[in-house]
Amino acid sequence: MAPMAGVTDKPFRLLCKRMGAGLAVSEMTISDPRFWNTPKSLRRMDHVGEPDPVSVQIAGTEPQLLAEAARYNVDHGAQIVDINMGCPAKKVCNAWAGSALMRDEALVGRILDAVVAAVDVPVTLKIRTGWDAANRNAPAIARIAEAAGIQALTVHGRTRDQHYTGIRPSTTPSPGSSRKFRSR
Ligand SMILES: Cc1cc2nc3c(=O)[nH]c(=O)nc-3n(C[C@H](O)[C@H](O)[C@H](O)COP(=O)(O)O)c2cc1C
Repeated sequence: MAPMAGVTDKPFRLLCKRMGAGLAVSEMTISDPRFWNTPKSLRRMDHVGEPDPVSVQIAGTEPQLLAEAARYNVDHGAQIVDINMGCPAKKVCNAWAGSALMRDEALVGRILDAVVAAVDVPVTLKIRTGWDAANRNAPAIARIAEAAGIQALTVHGRTRDQHYTGIRPSTTPSPGSSRKFRSR
């Protein structure tokens, strides 16, 4: 079950696992510790009673903050740490996180090295095919991930500028549902 913010909360994951899902990744959790005590983060970081394997997705920009977030989540039940480099939301990308990271391959390498070194559990990575049609660098990111010791790679098979539709926004008017994700 792919991670989906606002969808794959704990009750949803429990339901999916009960119905046979082998892996159900948490909603993305922010790596900045200033937000860890908000009701939303506390809910997202609660894995008590969740069947194995518990996979927690983290998002952020600073290698050391992401490493600390990985450690913190492992201390709170994560058995797999997944790093988000696929989120297209403006508020995430403007903070140079999510899919925006794919534009800075050196930073990707530093983040992956820091997180892999920080925890003893498998670290996995979620990416897009690239930022846009002119910058499809998923294979380069995959090689960086492999070199860093990433254990599994999930590819959301669209560029960032295709958001959730597979269609470039400049060529097609966005349907209501994808507009909702775009403005998040
Ligand atoms: C409502 C919604 C929320 C999502 N939230 C996340 C998220 O928090 N982290 C993430 O890596 N992907 C997120 N995604 C992307 C999905 O995990 C998945 O990669 C994407 O929908 C592609 O699947 P598809 O080709 O079946 O559409 C989200 C998707 C949707 C529709």
